[in-house]
Amino acid sequence: MILSITLLWSCSQPEDKFLIGVSQCSQDEWRNKQNEEMLRQAAVERNMELEIRSVKDDSKKQIEDIRYFLDKKVDLLIVSPNETDAITPIVSEAYDAGIPVIVIDRKINSNKYTAFIGADNVQIGEELGGYIAALCKNHPEKVFNLKGLPSSSSEIERNRGFMKVVEPLENAEIVGSVAADWLMETAEHVMDSVFQVHPDITLLAAHNDRMAIGAIKAAEKHNLQQKVKFIGVDALTSPGWGVEQVLNKKMLATVIYPTGGERVIQVASDILHARPFEKEITLNTAVVDSTNAHIMMMQAELIQEETAKVYDLSSRVDTYFHRLNTQRLLLIAVVIILALLIGLFAIALYAYWEKNRINQLLQKRNKEIEKQRDQLVELSKQLEDATRAKLAFFTNVSHDFRTPLTLIADPVNQLKESKNLNEDEQFLMNIIQKNVTVLLRLVNQTLDFRKFESGKLTLHLSEFNIAEKVRNWSEAFDTLAERKHINFTVEVKESENPYLMVADSEKMERSLYNLLSNAFKFTPENGKIKVLLSNFLKEGQLWMELVVKDTGVGMSSEHVKHIFENFYQVDVHHAGSGIGLALVKAFAEMHKGTVQVESRQSVGTTFTIQLPMRQEGELEADLQRNQAMDTLKEGALMEADQESLKTYLPELEKTEKEVVLIIDDNQDVRDYVKMLLDEEYLVIEAANGKEGLKMALKYVPDAIICDVMMPIMNGMECCRHLKSEPQTSHIPVMMLTAYAMDEQKIEGYECGADSYISKPFSAQLLKVRLRNLLENHLRLKNFFTDGSSTMEKEEISSMEQDFVDKLRSLINNNLRNSKLNIDDLSDEMGFSRVQFYRKTKSLTGYAPNELVRITRLKLSRKLLTTTDKNISEIAYEVGFSSPSYFSKCYKDYFGESPLDIQKKIGKK
Ligand code: FRU
Repeated sequence: MILSITLLWSCSQPEDKFLIGVSQCSQDEWRNKQNEEMLRQAAVERNMELEIRSVKDDSKKQIEDIRYFLDKKVDLLIVSPNETDAITPIVSEAYDAGIPVIVIDRKINSNKYTAFIGADNVQIGEELGGYIAALCKNHPEKVFNLKGLPSSSSEIERNRGFMKVVEPLENAEIVGSVAADWLMETAEHVMDSVFQVHPDITLLAAHNDRMAIGAIKAAEKHNLQQKVKFIGVDALTSPGWGVEQVLNKKMLATVIYPTGGERVIQVASDILHARPFEKEITLNTAVVDSTNAHIMMMQAELIQEETAKVYDLSSRVDTYFHRLNTQRLLLIAVVIILALLIGLFAIALYAYWEKNRINQLLQKRNKEIEKQRDQLVELSKQLEDATRAKLAFFTNVSHDFRTPLTLIADPVNQLKESKNLNEDEQFLMNIIQKNVTVLLRLVNQTLDFRKFESGKLTLHLSEFNIAEKVRNWSEAFDTLAERKHINFTVEVKESENPYLMVADSEKMERSLYNLLSNAFKFTPENGKIKVLLSNFLKEGQLWMELVVKDTGVGMSSEHVKHIFENFYQVDVHHAGSGIGLALVKAFAEMHKGTVQVESRQSVGTTFTIQLPMRQEGELEADLQRNQAMDTLKEGALMEADQESLKTYLPELEKTEKEVVLIIDDNQDVRDYVKMLLDEEYLVIEAANGKEGLKMALKYVPDAIICDVMMPIMNGMECCRHLKSEPQTSHIPVMMLTAYAMDEQKIEGYECGADSYISKPFSAQLLKVRLRNLLENHLRLKNFFTDGSSTMEKEEISSMEQDFVDKLRSLINNNLRNSKLNIDDLSDEMGFSRVQFYRKTKSLTGYAPNELVRITRLKLSRKLLTTTDKNISEIAYEVGFSSPSYFSKCYKDYFGESPLDIQKKIGKK
């Protein structure tokens, strides 16, 4: 398609035409005929454009015309030079510039032209002379020679031929010669004078018909026209010119000077199309007199008719071409439109097909979605049933737990009072009592929440002063605040309105307890917790606002969104807040109030409860505080309790025991583990990951037991930090958790934990695991080799290897310095003294000063056996300050004195 359009298009485009410049030297009938012939032939050739410029026999102007054509960069130049010498240079220039030049009619005097076309003017002169020769055979003739432009080649040659024939004639006397420059007026003017001097002239030979007619006019003036015979050159058939003058007997004869315009253009075409051509083309000539003038005229007329036909045909051809072009364009347009239509049709077809395909696809998808939806509905129904069943199960289980728990709690309380218990038993009893309390609180809260959910939880209204109550309730946390170094304040805003309130005081107390328990749990040492009570009027109703604000660890906005969702836990590692906060919300809603939370990580959390101060309903008599309430309160306090840091440094310095750090947020777990390990180890403790990390860095323990779920910093994070600090990276870590899930174990190992133990654990198992951990703890086998053996490399991590390598080269480089001590070494290593001592001992089994001493002794042994140096020299060289002390140490370490060695190897 594209190919055919291209073809059609290229056919319809007009061809590039050759531009041909024609410079004519004169303007006359002969030239007109020649120009007409050239134009006609160019029209036949079809791919040429002719521009003809003519001057009036003026060489200067003709040079300007030719220059114009050169500037225009014509493809070919046709020149009829006015004067030979004057025009030769510009023609040569054109030829040198690479433009093909055809010289016509008259010549130039150089061969710098491409082709010449014209008659042989010498022959023309001879024909003219020959006709005179024939005439004067019988009677003498007085001949006058009327010449053309003397500086034109045609005149020079014609005259040469003429004179060659006429001069030798006996009967022909040339009475005179004059030049009229090819022009009629000049000839008339000149001959007027000549006839005055030579009225005896019988024959006038003019070198062209124009001058002959001028001479006839002059002769007529002198009434000599009958007496003088006129002969000319050109033989033009147009009215009034040569041939007609012969027919009218005004002229005797005229020699044909052929114009040859068609031929000129044919040769130009050959040149332009690089076809072969002749360089010199001579056109034929003949004499026309009364004998053939008629035929000549007839032929001319015929030619004219034919020419007219040619013109007609040519114009028809033009019309056809024009039509053809129009039709071609039309065809192109039709083809393009057809192509577009086919294209559109194809697109429409494709779109239709695609639409059907998509429709089918959509239908299929719809069916799938419908199926999935049905499945989801079914699943959610199952889920709902399962949840309901699960909750019912929880409730039942909680119910089942409560009675036995109460039955444990009471005897434990009684047992605790017993005087027969020793200190350890008393301690264990305390742990039991506290945990039973916490468990009871959890069970009670779960049951309450279930009651609330099933709409069975009711408000027990009484009238009380909320300001007093809030102060009272908060007091319970004072001791904890003091212990944890927390700035805990309660503020009741001054108000015109009374703080008298009708509400369920127990539920409010529990809400405050839950919020405070939470705040204390997540607020680190030296933090702030504030309780702020105020009241305000809203739509004519008095409301109270209770704010609990802490500077604790805070929560992310994602966690804040879900904080009150049932049993939602902010972080499984921060267990315990779920049910408590869900209940706070439930209680607020029961009072037709709201609870809101604002929190920013690492900044703090603010809970705000707002309730109408006068709840509607029947007042109950002042309620007796029940046992459960006390348990709840105690449980909340216990959960919030975290033991503060204490210093173990003095103990650490005194003890020979291995040091174990226990990190757990549950005081009871810590107390229990401590009791288990106390005899064998020095146990130090921390209540969360952050504190644990601090302590590990400070004391560099031999092993760490770390809980996973803790507030502030959980166990995983803590372990990761421990393993990345150079001071603690070598310490074996045992993770301790209530969950035995595999992912947690994997996560634990990923963060670098060395061992794992699930809660509840048996005392025995814990002890055995810990011992194994300490015994299998990877330790450098031999500090004193260069440490490059593969065995060793495999056993200790690259971090520890770096430490050992650095220490080894530090000692080796400073061996000669007798004042080298542990402070210098720990400084160089970037550790504190304690950290350095404990890490070195743990990794190498030697204290730093032992390492230095043994290195010195090993070097001295080498020097003793391989050099001639004496004992004192060697002692100083390896950094001992006295040779006697050196000898003593040497003997202690190797079992023989340096002297014994020297004797043995025969040095002394
Ligand atoms: C035309 C003309 C002719 C003559 C020829 C000579 O310009 O004067 O009459 O034969 O030139 O070059």
